[in-house]
Amino acid sequence: MNDLPNSEACERNKGPILEVITPYLSSSDNGEFFEIGSLTCQHSAHFAKAFAQIDFITSEIRDNQNVLKMCLSHYQKKIPNLKGPLVYEAGFNKLEAGKKFYFTANTLHIMPWKAAKTFIKDLATAMDENSTLFIYGPFKYHGNYTSTSNEQFDGFLKERDAQSGIRNFEDICNNFLKKGVFLKEDIAMPANNQLLIFTK
Ligand SMILES: C[S@@+](CC[C@H](N)C(=O)[O-])C[C@H]1O[C@@H](n2cnc3c(N)ncnc32)[C@H](O)[C@@H]1O
Repeated sequence: MNDLPNSEACERNKGPILEVITPYLSSSDNGEFFEIGSLTCQHSAHFAKAFAQIDFITSEIRDNQNVLKMCLSHYQKKIPNLKGPLVYEAGFNKLEAGKKFYFTANTLHIMPWKAAKTFIKDLATAMDENSTLFIYGPFKYHGNYTSTSNEQFDGFLKERDAQSGIRNFEDICNNFLKKGVFLKEDIAMPANNQLLIFTK
């Protein structure tokens, strides 16, 4: 248990995220919730405990399968509706289509912008008119940071990998819009993050 990879940020933000997505999940009798970039799967594990009638499917890129597998083997003992691991990596393979909910946290600022555009296309292709997409993370608005800490975080990301970086909210929304996916809500979350909610 002590060796289990764990994100303190996930521990802090999983509750506030669950609060926002609860009205959407409550109105669903069943269905599947597909998470992209699950890594430690703390988000899906937390949500799955609250919604036993929904299957929460976790996924990761090829290089991070081991971390996800290790975490799943811990959580799945007590949470039977926590599923996976599946492999999804933008630019490498297809995303499973027709899920009721898609969710991703803190992935768009990690993957290169080219992969992010592929990810948006994949999500738009996978979604149908009954799907809801939740994207959690920090964003810039018209090129402006929402806080000094986000500006510092962006500097740190770019120093680590020049292709990473906090994305512009407008670029994300416009790329989705081109594919027929519309922003429904943009909710300010603690610690200068946002929860963007899209439908087709
Ligand atoms: C900062 S971690 C976030 C993990 C977790 N969702 C969280 O909030 O703690 C970034 C995640 O993006 C994933 N990622 C990076 N490139 C990706 C790609 N091309 N396609 C899908 N996921 C990718 C990584 O594998 C990693 O799990």
